[in-house]
Amino acid sequence: MSDARIAFFDDAAWDWDRDVPDFMQTPVFAEWWRTVSLRHGQVVLEIGCGTGRLLPLICGCVNPGGAVCGLDFSLGMLTKAKARCTGMPIHFLCAAAHYLPLPSATCDVVFLVSTFPHLQPRTRALQQIHRVLKPNGRLYLAHFDSRETINNRHRTIGSAVINDLIPTPNKIIELLTSCGLTTTSLDARPDRFFLYASKKT
Ligand SMILES: C[S@@+](CC[C@H](N)C(=O)[O-])C[C@H]1O[C@@H](n2cnc3c(N)ncnc32)[C@H](O)[C@@H]1O
Repeated sequence: MSDARIAFFDDAAWDWDRDVPDFMQTPVFAEWWRTVSLRHGQVVLEIGCGTGRLLPLICGCVNPGGAVCGLDFSLGMLTKAKARCTGMPIHFLCAAAHYLPLPSATCDVVFLVSTFPHLQPRTRALQQIHRVLKPNGRLYLAHFDSRETINNRHRTIGSAVINDLIPTPNKIIELLTSCGLTTTSLDARPDRFFLYASKKT
């Protein structure tokens, strides 16, 4: 993680909802969401929640009885997310993924939506995700474009995100395995990159 990356997202936050198409309006999002399993009472963490687009939906699925935390290292993003989610029972944390300020084995589900490539140091962030997940807890990683499109976008944007690339499917599975996360499914197509993993130990 670098301060330059935080500054990049802080700058982007103000116009994010105007400039970045809302993935939730796409048919591929609806398809993905049907595969996501959430139920009342669960504890869910979204890392890199950005302006909070997904949080109200998560909140509706796990409540009553659940708990939702939106975490982001950009205060600009969190400010937008808090405004969007006013009145909803959502906890917000300004923190980096490689140092999650949460007790071990507390989360049923962790979401990484369009965030995985930015996580640095990557192994340390995945070890933290493994730590906060309960046994059999699940990690959902989603992008609503192909891996190639996302990587080319980051190379084109340049600056702080130029090296924020999604590894090949084999490499990402290997990386997750080395952090104690078992990949159950990986769906890489021209309009998506979805991965679902769980904590076995
Ligand atoms: C591409 S945006 C996606 C935001 C949101 N999930 C969405 O899809 O609209 C990535 C988000 O992750 C956050 N982020 C990137 N790296 C992070 C890290 N290491 N720890 C916490 N947040 C991070 C950024 O600040 C940004 O809000």
